[in-house]
Amino acid sequence: MTKPPAPDAPENPPRSAADQPIPDQSASAQPAPDSSAAPVRKPRAPRKSAASLEHAGTGAARPTSKPRSKKAAEAAATADTPAAPELSGHDLSTFNIRLERYRQDLENSLRAVYGKQVDALWPRLEALLRRALAERPADLKRLDEARLLRPDWLQVPEMIGYVAYTDRFAGTLRGVSQRLGYLEELGVKYLHLMPLLKPRARENDGGYAVADYRAVREDLGSIDDLRSLTAELRGRGISLELDLVINHVAREHDWAVRARAGEARYRDYFLLFPDRQMPDAYERSLPEIFPDFAPGNFTWNEEAASWVWTTFNSYQWDLNWANPDVFLEFVDIILYLANQGVEIFRLDAIAFLWKRLGTDSQNQPEVHDLTRALRACARIVAPAVAFKAEAIVSPGDLIAYLGKRDHSGKVSDMAYHNSLMVQLWSSLASRNTRLFEQALSAFAPKPTNTTWGLYVRCHDDIGWAISDHDAGMAGTVGWGHRAFLSDFYSGEWPGSFARGQVFQANPRTGDRRISGSAASLAGLEAAQTPEDVSLALRRLRLLHAVTLGYGGVPLLYMGDELALTNDYSYQDVPEHASDNRWLHRPAMDWDKAEERADSATPAGQMYAALQQLIRARQQLPHLHASIESQVVRSSNEHTLLLRRSHPLGQMLGVYNFTGEFQPLPAWVLREVVGDFPRDAISGHEWNLTNEEVALEPYGAYWLIEQPR
Ligand code: GLC
Repeated sequence: MTKPPAPDAPENPPRSAADQPIPDQSASAQPAPDSSAAPVRKPRAPRKSAASLEHAGTGAARPTSKPRSKKAAEAAATADTPAAPELSGHDLSTFNIRLERYRQDLENSLRAVYGKQVDALWPRLEALLRRALAERPADLKRLDEARLLRPDWLQVPEMIGYVAYTDRFAGTLRGVSQRLGYLEELGVKYLHLMPLLKPRARENDGGYAVADYRAVREDLGSIDDLRSLTAELRGRGISLELDLVINHVAREHDWAVRARAGEARYRDYFLLFPDRQMPDAYERSLPEIFPDFAPGNFTWNEEAASWVWTTFNSYQWDLNWANPDVFLEFVDIILYLANQGVEIFRLDAIAFLWKRLGTDSQNQPEVHDLTRALRACARIVAPAVAFKAEAIVSPGDLIAYLGKRDHSGKVSDMAYHNSLMVQLWSSLASRNTRLFEQALSAFAPKPTNTTWGLYVRCHDDIGWAISDHDAGMAGTVGWGHRAFLSDFYSGEWPGSFARGQVFQANPRTGDRRISGSAASLAGLEAAQTPEDVSLALRRLRLLHAVTLGYGGVPLLYMGDELALTNDYSYQDVPEHASDNRWLHRPAMDWDKAEERADSATPAGQMYAALQQLIRARQQLPHLHASIESQVVRSSNEHTLLLRRSHPLGQMLGVYNFTGEFQPLPAWVLREVVGDFPRDAISGHEWNLTNEEVALEPYGAYWLIEQPR
């Protein structure tokens, strides 16, 4: 992406207050660190739509369980919104009870972000919530009731997630329904379909540039197909997750089109600057997310005569969350999709929502207030719904996405455990677990009603999120270890078994992230002999055993159950060619899937190993996510020990990160799980009355204390 030089002076004077630089979105809440450089944003006058959304009281019921049409939904957050429907009977009492329960959560969080503007916002919000509840289909209301009785539904060990691209897995949404048998056979209870809402045409960051949140990508199907699929999944006890791209929209989204056309209302949905003054000030402390193909965080747009905040690609316009209208729009979008049967929202790039001068504009306190407010809205209308935070941030910052202090357990229900994933690959390369132990012990306990999203691989690259402090504590050097991992996984390191590629090398910071499928990174692609193949599969089994045995929702990435290797065909697709993350986004290989029962094939061996882990996990109450895994420092630096203290007894995960047998003194294990624990994976009983035990190459065991 090239950007034109900054104009010396703005060609046009700002057209509205919204055109003023927005140095700190938090004018109503907290002072900017450098308030001298931060012109304060004037509070906005309430818009007409706020009045038109005032709730209509308690008159006759409008029995509507049919999701509202796209048009009506679109109108909801605009000035032409019709009066809110009236709730009555059970719906009305439900609404009142839930509002009473969440009013304070909602109001306090909104006040922390929007200050006095909440007075104008409130009636519009309440009307929107009433309407969404009135329109919620009856079967989803039943699900709400069931979930309220089973608040730990995401924490139970039966929960197994599967992550797939609709087209690459099954062609279309209808195609997905044809493949549900496959998912059920694997034990899947939770399906994350990668971005499928209508994106901009051509390059669209794998669908993370949404042009319309109320339409499905045309080649995948329609909103009706989505609704039918969610109903079918629900019938089989599988929850659907969709991405909620909340930090930015496509440049082609109607809001951005209208902003470019000069509509003040929509200019205020974005962060537009007439000249380089503020962008330059921000840039001084902002990181670059895609330094390779989208350097910098701002893009000049001629039509808008502005520098537009674009954290990711130039065609992804960041939203101005300091504008309460943006909040209302997203409440409406969430509830619209929830009413189509979406049960889990992946809050994409959530860390970036709030910008503050002088900071990296990530993890700002307002992000958590906003999430808490969005969650309160979802709890009032659709308590079956859960949020998953996609916050790829340091452990110290991550816990706030599940809730710290006053927010504890009131923000996202789940967050990706990026650090666990990074440490899996780090220990596999270094054959050493000291850093793994150190990184895990840096995590504060999460709120007991929340859970982790646990994964070996996903659709994104792997960034070596390893702090210098942790590296130092583990006896290594941060930059050196990170460089080693990039060398190792790109296959440059002599003797490396991995076949990945460097993604977004940043000469300024020295960062080199890695793309590649789990199987290729673990050595299957480079394997020359049956022995190599066996080692690669053992490595993969080990990584899956740690994630499945950690306590959280394991998110299996499509194809990993068959050990699919890198897909180089992305180079032939013009809109993918410059982004090597497509290396690990292959089409499902259904021929290989046919081999899954054949133990003579690598696919069959991988599938069998994973299925054994899944079965063991689903029957193991010790893996309920309300309980933390705790590191037991191992005397052998090649092995990792993770303890889980469950009321039914102790569990100890025992893992060997090398391709050789590793000895462990038996007393270390005995102290936790007694003399004769059972390995829940193999079903074997262990005798720990001897002096030493030997762990198999890349061995993984879940030892369970037996009742006396
Ligand atoms: C998230 C997605 C990633 C995307 C980015 C911008 O990090 O996982 O694929 O590029 O958000 O939306």
